[in-house]
Amino acid sequence: MIPAPKPDREPRLPPAYRLVALEEIDSTNAEAKRLAEAGAEDGTLVWARSQTGGYGRQGRAWASSPGNLFLSVIVRPDCGLAEAAQFSFVTAVALGDAIGSVASPQMAVNYKWPNDVLLNGRKVAGILLESKGDAEQRLEWLVIGVGANVSSFPPETRLPATSLHFEGCPTTVSAVDLLEAFARHLLSWINVWLDEGFAPVRAAWLRHAGGLQEEIEVRLPQETLKGVFVDLDAAGALELRQADGTTRRIAAGEVYLAGEAEQGT
Ligand code: BTN
Repeated sequence: MIPAPKPDREPRLPPAYRLVALEEIDSTNAEAKRLAEAGAEDGTLVWARSQTGGYGRQGRAWASSPGNLFLSVIVRPDCGLAEAAQFSFVTAVALGDAIGSVASPQMAVNYKWPNDVLLNGRKVAGILLESKGDAEQRLEWLVIGVGANVSSFPPETRLPATSLHFEGCPTTVSAVDLLEAFARHLLSWINVWLDEGFAPVRAAWLRHAGGLQEEIEVRLPQETLKGVFVDLDAAGALELRQADGTTRRIAAGEVYLAGEAEQGT
């Protein structure tokens, strides 16, 4: 017998957050950006049960039916725009910890550079950072968007996808449970980043990095590179050792792990 899902309840978040809970919205990222421009404070978290125009990286649509998690958090740390990009790793490790805490620590969570979370090798969550800086390249606001497949995943995706329930997480675990766990872990990882810098975040991410020391493909706007993913540098760039022995540092690009490249065209 499949246990009935818990009735949806209001999320309980740490007091550092200001929750904006919505039944439906075009996109929580779009709404968070509108709020950020209107002066919304650090810690504003926009959560919606469904989105009509959810989007991911490269402007791709993000399927957003109820039962999955869609949220965007506004943060305003005092840092440069380039440094703020490290929040994709802060967010990934917070998501990994949150999944471990609501599901089972045994679940094989991996991070795929720079912005994906995989469960048993398939994408279970994606992260979309959007930011605004001032004339001196200091951060004004950063919106951290997270889409996580809790109860379902779209059938036809560019790369293999999955959901928590499909991977065996109890169906009693809801998007609200994951939201609460994520909010707690995000807060504590942001504090680690503020107090100790990127190093501990990088170390936690590397412990579960997908494709590390393996052959990967990286697609850049003008070229496609192949090589071994040897490390993450101190700023979060991917280090790729190529066949000719040179190492390329990549700050932005699409990574394809072994077996993914053929499907991801
Ligand atoms: C990706 O993998 O391309 C990132 C996907 C990010 C999707 C989330 S869902 C909540 C937030 N609102 C959006 O429109 N996008 C992000």
